[in-house]
Amino acid sequence: MSKYLWIDCDPGVDDAATILLAHQSQKFQPIGISTVAGNATHRHTFDNARRLVHLIPADTPVYPGAEKPLIRELTTAPYVHGVDSLGGIQLPASESEKTTESKKAWDALYEALCRYGDDLEVLAIGPLTNIAIALAKYPDFAQRLKRLIIMGGAAKGGNYTPAAEFNIYVDPEAAEKVFMSGIPIFMFGLDVTLQSYLTEEDLDALENQSSPQAKFMVDCLQLSKEFAKTKNLKGVPLHDVCTLLYLEKPKLFSFKKAWVRVETGGEITRGKTVTDLYSDKQMEPKNTQVALVVRREDFAQLFLEMMNRYSKGSLCKHIYI
Ligand code: RIB
Ligand code: CA
Repeated sequence: MSKYLWIDCDPGVDDAATILLAHQSQKFQPIGISTVAGNATHRHTFDNARRLVHLIPADTPVYPGAEKPLIRELTTAPYVHGVDSLGGIQLPASESEKTTESKKAWDALYEALCRYGDDLEVLAIGPLTNIAIALAKYPDFAQRLKRLIIMGGAAKGGNYTPAAEFNIYVDPEAAEKVFMSGIPIFMFGLDVTLQSYLTEEDLDALENQSSPQAKFMVDCLQLSKEFAKTKNLKGVPLHDVCTLLYLEKPKLFSFKKAWVRVETGGEITRGKTVTDLYSDKQMEPKNTQVALVVRREDFAQLFLEMMNRYSKGSLCKHIYI
C-alpha cells in the first residue's frame, strides 16, 4: 500500500458507499475516519461511521468531529438519507460504541498529516466544518496538506437551494475558509456527481452480489432511489463516491482549473460556490480543479467491481440481515 487515506464524512448513504469501497481499495489503506454533522445530527453520523466499520469489518478508528457548523444552526437532510441517515437501515451496533475515541477529528487528522505527509490523501465528503477547525487550530495545516479532495459545491446550480449544494450550504463559512486556505482543491460538485449515478440495471447487479455489505448497500440506497425518481434523475447519484473512484482511477474524470469562492453573506445565494469557469471575468488564484465530466459506465463498473470484492472474501463476522 503506497498511500494512506482519510475520510471526513457525514454518513449518509453515499458516504457509507465511500467507506465500504475505501476498505476494498488496492491502492490506499484507510487510516482514519472523522465525522461531522450534516446529513444527520453528529450522534447519528458518528454512530453510523462506527457501525459501517463494524460491517466491513475493519479496525479503522473513527474520530468525532463538529456537532454543528461554525456559526450557523445545523441543517440536515432526512428526506434523502432518512432520519438515522442510512436510508432507514439499522446496522448492528459495534462493540466500539461502548468506547468513544477521545481525540477530536481535527486533532487526529493533523497528527495523521504530520505522520504521513504527502502519502496521505484526504477526502472531505460532508460539510467542511472539521477541516476549517483544523485550519484555524494548526497554522501549518494548509502547508502540510498537498491537496484536499471534496464532494461539494457546483459551478452551475444547486440541490439544497437553486444556488447551493448541500455540503457547502450547511457550513458556508467553513467552505470559504477552505477555498481561501491555499490548499489545492479537487472539487467534485454537482456538475459531475449528478452524472455519476447507478441505473436500475446497476442496482440489479449489486443485488446479485452475495455479500452482506452489498445487501446493506442495496437496502440503504432504496430511499435515495425513490428521492432521485422525484427529481426525474436517470439513476441514483453517488455524489461522495466520486472522490474515492477518482483516486482509484483518475481517468474516469476530466477537470478544469478555476478560481472558486463561497457566498456567505447572501440569503438567496448562501453557500453558492462562485467560479470563473463561465465568466468573461477571469480571476486568480485558480487553485481548484473542478470535475466536470465522468465516464459513467466505467464509474458504475468500478463501483460494482470493488463492491464485489466483499463477495470474494468477505470477512464479515456477522451477517447483515
Ligand atoms: O449534495 C450531496 C452531498 O450532501 C453528499 O455529500 C451527501 O452525502 C450529502 O452530504
Ligand atoms: Ca456526505
